[in-house]
Amino acid sequence: MASTIRKIDILLLGSGGREHALLDKLADSPHAGALYVAPGNGGMLGSATCVGIDPESPIEVVAWALAHDIGLVVIGPEAPLMAGVADACRSAHIPTFGPNLEAARIEGSKKFAKQVMGRAGVPTAAWRSFTDEKGCLDYVARLDGPCVVKADGLAAGKGVIVAKDAEEAAEGVRACFSGAFGEAGDSVLIEEALSGPECSLLVLTDGRTVVPLATSQDHKRAYEGDTGPNTGGMGAYSPVPSVASAEFDEMIEIMERIVVQLAADGTPYSGCLYGGFMLTDEGPKVLEFNARFGDPETQAVLPRMHADLVEVMLACDRGVLDRGMISWDDDWAVSVVLASAGYPGPYEVGKPITGIKAAEALEGVTIYHAGTALDADGTLVTSGGRVLAVTAVAPTFEAARARAYEGAGLIDFDGKSFRTDIGMKAVPDRSGL
Ligand code: AMP
Ligand code: GLY
Repeated sequence: MASTIRKIDILLLGSGGREHALLDKLADSPHAGALYVAPGNGGMLGSATCVGIDPESPIEVVAWALAHDIGLVVIGPEAPLMAGVADACRSAHIPTFGPNLEAARIEGSKKFAKQVMGRAGVPTAAWRSFTDEKGCLDYVARLDGPCVVKADGLAAGKGVIVAKDAEEAAEGVRACFSGAFGEAGDSVLIEEALSGPECSLLVLTDGRTVVPLATSQDHKRAYEGDTGPNTGGMGAYSPVPSVASAEFDEMIEIMERIVVQLAADGTPYSGCLYGGFMLTDEGPKVLEFNARFGDPETQAVLPRMHADLVEVMLACDRGVLDRGMISWDDDWAVSVVLASAGYPGPYEVGKPITGIKAAEALEGVTIYHAGTALDADGTLVTSGGRVLAVTAVAPTFEAARARAYEGAGLIDFDGKSFRTDIGMKAVPDRSGL
């Protein structure tokens, strides 16, 4: 007798390119029933129903999920995690992908992350934290050379100032304490400045077993040559060829130690744990942790992954994750973000978008929507800073890169801006990195 596959209805929280990539992978699963997304975006409507609930309200999410017999809630961004949505869902016995609030503090508080790293003996930049502006300013005035100023809490990727001297550091400290980053800046960390190439390693974990995903590299600065302000991320590629296998092993061990430490501390972690690393001459050191998939790393990593994502996410929640559940393509992926002119500063919205179908027709190209919406006439228009991610997968890095840019060239909207050097660091040797 043929076995029947149990289908479950899924609610995904978020609206970015990361969530679109997660949605595509969830939709591929034989276990996927109806797919719902809150709030979603203009590109997700083909495969999911957008739901008008507040994704950061535990009460609304739980009530809606129970009313619609949801079998899996997937939490994309950090804000619902920090609002306790995962805890509320689990209390209501709804299977949930994403860590509980206490464990998600590994992203929500940089000081908490540093303390966990200290207990776990994980290499990271030396640091000190301050809650008073004067003490902090006195400290940076005494430093000789560069340092990094970080607002302690969530600041949408903006609360980090890499300062080349004491003067820039003092400016950063004043910005943090002036409330420029909201409550995130009430407590400020001053860190040793590290140098080296960066690499993101995302792992999936059920609190015990850790399954690494493929390496990827983000491009955080707004403009070519890693200049301009930090953004959410302007593009990514996967894998990162400059990562030596010993470094990869070290990064995995670091992630395992953090998972073990969080469990030992009584705050077990399940979901995706994102490690942001700098590959220093002394080995990989942690820059930050995120309690979720990276954006735009996910748009470069997931298309190369072979897995039943519904099964994997349920396994993370149930504590039965297994390494054998995931395998990888040898192909390369390059993802180029198309943003609105002005991003990460102020930008205009409502610009009609053309060329998506032509770009999607290219071999190996997928368009992930982020800041898009349908206007009253049903026209696809821009609605955010990062508008689309054009991902190409191909057998060679060069082909993937060329295809992603070909796709990016076919799409148009007023103010379209993007970096033309995504992936240029993916060279086998590290000279010029
Ligand atoms: P974070 O949000 O902590 O990852 O920081 C954003 C970016 O700031 C990182 O991707 C790095 O490029 C840079 N950064 C953060 N911490 C350091 C550090 N200790 N040394 C040098 N650069 C850093
Ligand atoms: N790409 C950086 C992040 O997701 O935080």
